[in-house]
Amino acid sequence: MQRIAVMTSGGDAPGMNAAIRAVVRKAIYHGIEVIGINRGYNGFIEGDMWPMNLGSVADIIHRGGTILHTARSEEFTTPEGRAKAYKNVKRFGIQGLVVIGGDGSFRGAKIFHDEYGLPVVGVPGTIDNDIYGTDYTIGFDTAVNNVVDAINKIRDTATSHERTFVVEVMGRNSGFIALQAGLAGGAESILLPEVPFDVKEICDKLMRGVKRGKLHSIIIVAEGAASGLEIGSKIKEITGFDTKVTILGHLQRGGIPTATDRLMASLLGAKAVEVLMEGKTNKVVGIRASETVCYDIEEVFNNTKKDLNTEMLELANILSI
Ligand code: F6P
Repeated sequence: MQRIAVMTSGGDAPGMNAAIRAVVRKAIYHGIEVIGINRGYNGFIEGDMWPMNLGSVADIIHRGGTILHTARSEEFTTPEGRAKAYKNVKRFGIQGLVVIGGDGSFRGAKIFHDEYGLPVVGVPGTIDNDIYGTDYTIGFDTAVNNVVDAINKIRDTATSHERTFVVEVMGRNSGFIALQAGLAGGAESILLPEVPFDVKEICDKLMRGVKRGKLHSIIIVAEGAASGLEIGSKIKEITGFDTKVTILGHLQRGGIPTATDRLMASLLGAKAVEVLMEGKTNKVVGIRASETVCYDIEEVFNNTKKDLNTEMLELANILSI
């Protein structure tokens, strides 16, 4: 293998730059050239690609976002779009592709491999941590810390005014951010897409808390479970409490990546290069019990639901009584 390409695709995640850096430096260490593809599959189709060197990834390990930019490409879902991308594979002499992104991005990689035979490896990068087969995805740890930081700040004002706060966090289909940030932030209730909930019960719990002297309450709602605004107005209606809603939105996805995210990203990026060097394809790299692993990309598609940590779930309920 003499030349590989790397792209980031789908929603950005803090730590993606550390992964790009690891791919580039690990590949160059082994004498492999690296082409950076800008704007995910869109850049692949348009030939928006450039040769990277050791200096291309200098001073980026601590930066959020992705220096390669990212996109969700409609055109790559069409055979015509993929045919255009293949022309660029030939033009740039690419012999392997590393895709840093989520399951949608991996699906594109697999279809492309199946049509054109280009070896592909996926590196899990999404703040949602919802990719099957890996304990961590790049960006998750930073996102959880961003949410906990926001909860800490909200707590100050919530206590001062003796208010109830509903905090809506990201997680279209999964509650990993909500659960871990809720537990680490000491939330009274955590609403997750994976677990049914009853607003009446949440309100009863809030009222019990107030009776025993609680000055404020924080409810974390994963966007995939419910709308924070709707939950806030229901709570206000049932309890009569002064209830405010904060939607954290995209600030969760930005900022300096944590050390954990940089470490995971570095390990995963380097592992992806190794996998390509071993002549493997249609693989995803991941972390299980602190070790890097490599598994079939199809496992991600065949197991769309990644289970939440039940111990954390139970503990969150116990500690928030
Ligand atoms: O990165 C994953 C995610 O953050 C989801 O939780 C969220 O719903 C979605 O991306 C929003 O991303 P965008 O606004 O870029 O479409």
